Amino acid sequence: MDKAYFAGGCFWCITPFFARAKGVAGVVSGFSGGEEKDPAYEQVKAQQTGHRESIEVSYDPQQTSFDTLLHIFLANVDPYDGGGQYIDRGHSYTLAVYYQNEKERLAAQKALNEIPGAQIALEPFCGFYAAGEEHQEFYKRHPEEFAKEMEESGRTKVLSEKGERLVRQLKSFAEEEPWYVSLLPNAAALIWETLPDLNWAGFYLMRDEVLALGPFEGKTACIHIPLGKGVCGTAAVKDCTLRVPDVHEFPGHIACDSASNSEIVIPLHKNGRVIGVMDLDSPSLNRFTAGDQTLLERFAGVLEENIDLGELSVE
Ligand code: SME
Repeated sequence: MDKAYFAGGCFWCITPFFARAKGVAGVVSGFSGGEEKDPAYEQVKAQQTGHRESIEVSYDPQQTSFDTLLHIFLANVDPYDGGGQYIDRGHSYTLAVYYQNEKERLAAQKALNEIPGAQIALEPFCGFYAAGEEHQEFYKRHPEEFAKEMEESGRTKVLSEKGERLVRQLKSFAEEEPWYVSLLPNAAALIWETLPDLNWAGFYLMRDEVLALGPFEGKTACIHIPLGKGVCGTAAVKDCTLRVPDVHEFPGHIACDSASNSEIVIPLHKNGRVIGVMDLDSPSLNRFTAGDQTLLERFAGVLEENIDLGELSVE
């Protein structure tokens, strides 16, 4: 098992986001960043030691990666709050990634560069001290108190409002008409209306082993994208989300609209097969954050669950 260390504010609150992730074997709540050995919870909470409330994530590198854990971390904190997180204030509740080697440092630096203005410390790992038993898996031991803390802290509200609204609207469209001809144009429009700073948002669908242009918002676009070509064809073949901070540096990028500078492409599946991709372009460099990726993957998940592919159906 490999280990990764993050400070994401209240350790009770941040734990479940990691504990539920694929490839994670366990999450320990504790303290990092201060000099004193084995500090007490009350001391850290009262800002007496220089530690931050932190977590130690044990993971199987065959099943997940430090990058994925970083992604989970960034999607579940308020990166711009430099004075703590939500209701929990002071240094011990500020954000940090504790890297253990150069590879982790570079990966974290790259992710942080994609969030200009983020208030997240990037510090070398210098020890982790587990907190008392009563703080471990708090969300399981005290589900009601945990829910209350999440609610009162404002975490639940801030993190989910935007995503929930998008997902709710998409679900209600799908309930009324799941047929892809009706659902996908509204899905593209929903993204277009909700997310700022886009110049294209839409779909390419698999047809005779190429990606063919589907419903979209934005300027007219190229009609066919061969598998393995461009960002879309590469995401479809690799079957993974591609978040491209600068499309001009992506080998083989297909420029439909010269205004595009960054792009995110998410594969869509049905019955275990890739049936197309969702593609968003932005005129800004580095437009799409890890948080956007999480939200859009959730959106894509709702599409996959609900869509009726009609004559495009795959068994
Ligand atoms: N840039 C994409 C082509 C599609 S447009 O962005 C709408 C690509 O490289 O696959």
